[in-house]
Amino acid sequence: MADVINVSYDTQIPNNVNLSSDRKVLKALEKWHPGYLDWWNRLIPRNLQQSMVYLRTAVSVDPKGWAKFDYLKMPDYRWGILLAPRLEGRTIPCGEHKGQPAWQEVPGEYRNLLKRLIVIQGDTEPGSVEQQRFLGLTAPSLYDMRNLFQVNVEEGRHLWAMVYLLQKYFGKDGREEADDLLRRSSGSDEAPRMLGAFNQETPDWLSFFMFTYFTDRDGKMQLESLAQSGFDPLSRTCRFMLTEEAHHMFVGETGVGRIIQATVDAMTRAGLTDASDINKVRDLSVIDLPTIQKKLSLHYTLSLDLFGQEISTNAANAFNAGIKGRYMESRIEDDHLLKDSTYKVLDFENNQTVEREVSALKAINMRLRDDYVKDAEGGIGRWNKIINKAGIDFELKLPHQAFNRKIGAFAHKPIDPEGQLLSSEAYSAGLSDWLPTTSDGDFIESLMQPCYEPGQYARWIAPPRVGIDNKPGDFEYVKLHMA
Ligand SMILES: [Fe+2]
Ligand SMILES: [Fe+2]
Repeated sequence: MADVINVSYDTQIPNNVNLSSDRKVLKALEKWHPGYLDWWNRLIPRNLQQSMVYLRTAVSVDPKGWAKFDYLKMPDYRWGILLAPRLEGRTIPCGEHKGQPAWQEVPGEYRNLLKRLIVIQGDTEPGSVEQQRFLGLTAPSLYDMRNLFQVNVEEGRHLWAMVYLLQKYFGKDGREEADDLLRRSSGSDEAPRMLGAFNQETPDWLSFFMFTYFTDRDGKMQLESLAQSGFDPLSRTCRFMLTEEAHHMFVGETGVGRIIQATVDAMTRAGLTDASDINKVRDLSVIDLPTIQKKLSLHYTLSLDLFGQEISTNAANAFNAGIKGRYMESRIEDDHLLKDSTYKVLDFENNQTVEREVSALKAINMRLRDDYVKDAEGGIGRWNKIINKAGIDFELKLPHQAFNRKIGAFAHKPIDPEGQLLSSEAYSAGLSDWLPTTSDGDFIESLMQPCYEPGQYARWIAPPRVGIDNKPGDFEYVKLHMA
């Protein structure tokens, strides 16, 4: 059967997987659909649901033609099932089945492992939308509001993507898992989201941008490793999700960059050069650089926890099974089996952080985390350039990986952002310098006033350099419905 590249709109659910001739799955999805819409409609404030948002939707999955922009009410967004095209002759890239044809059906022996990975990935998608549900009310511009909603509808679509896999390939328990994805919710006491970072609040726009920079980047790394999966439908699903994910990280990087820009511009106008004079900077109604650093440290360290234990038998099993690969697996030059190779992991021994060589197979999580850290460093450099250019002596940094950890070798250890082990007293005393405090949060919140005039931006954030879809500066990205 030829691959479908163009998205078909002949069923209620846009797709490129021939849903109209796959009655059983179509029925299961149609049954799940009202619950999803109900979830969405309860989530985002009503007047924003009724507003017309300039969104992109996929019309085809080939690299050039997949995004088309138009005004749309979010509940009318057509969440679809989109898989990247099948690669002719694709084989399992790693582990004990390496070189065998990629699986088109679930391999029985790995059914549970595979299902669990899909459920965990699926659980993060609606989690982030839940965390960001109220941000539209304080959007610093219509441009930013549009970007928020673009991210939200795409995370919603990522949920659909995982639900499709569950319903198509995992029968009755797949359908139950799909229902549970709508039952859990971020921060809930009874049924929280599965991973810690998705139960935190996203209370303000700086948090949102840090989240999309750091946590969506974790998402990217997880999707990259699932895109290497020997289970081909999962691989194809994740490959398409990655094209959307790139925009989310763009929103994060440019968002933080524009906040920094507004801060240094205001400082320059006021003749301030000392970034540590927090009160004077805050008097200008912009966010001081030390507070931006604290938010950065918080979101980075929360995201590091998402990579799990540095040494992990589960990760080794998934790799060995060919269910999950490494970042860029097919471009790595080694045997892709890792039976005899080793890898350096960070560990905590005799009260200090050390590097230790362990079996590369067991260090899969650590390796992915290392790739993540490298990937995350790029944006920090670009943010620092904005500060340098303004002639302000301040440098944003990623804290040491041992700082503020809840999972892994450094969990709950009193280690400072430089990686030094402290007494618990010294650590507690330092925390307010390293992580956002309640009063930092209150200050940021005080700035979060909506700015809804086309082309206007809240004082604490600079306008973007280019518009979405090359639109001019005063383009009305959201036509608000103010009821
Ligand atoms: Fe996502
Ligand atoms: Fe994302």
